[in-house]
Amino acid sequence: MHTAVIRKAHFNAAHRLAHQDWSEERNREVFGLCANPHYHGHNYELDVRVSGEVNAETGMLIDLKDLKTLIYQEVEVYMDHKNLNLEVVEFCHPDADGRFLIPTAENICRVIYDRLRGHLPDNLTLMVRLYETPRNIVEYPA
Ligand code: NI
Repeated sequence: MHTAVIRKAHFNAAHRLAHQDWSEERNREVFGLCANPHYHGHNYELDVRVSGEVNAETGMLIDLKDLKTLIYQEVEVYMDHKNLNLEVVEFCHPDADGRFLIPTAENICRVIYDRLRGHLPDNLTLMVRLYETPRNIVEYPA
């Protein structure tokens, strides 16, 4: 029986969207209010969707207690009340070429996916939906 379960989660975080090579004017043109040099916060909401075959013996796809704990450790403890640009490794450490990952909703969603994926059994499919506002939503993978 192919089934999906969804665990909802929440965190608050601050960010600034800016391309490191661009002027403040260009960043403001492209990223709008999210380019504010002094940062700003969002109330992020998260749907973590896990799908696959239900275990016939337990009647469960995944133990939701385990999923809750995993999301708590890998996402909430990691990002809640943090400044993503300054405190979260995926965004505050440059890659080998000196490039910083911009903490857009798209990139945050993929970082969350990557942090969870390795902890889940290979036979389960993961999808993460991130609500940056109630009306701005990103899904990864699409
Ligand atoms: Ni923003």
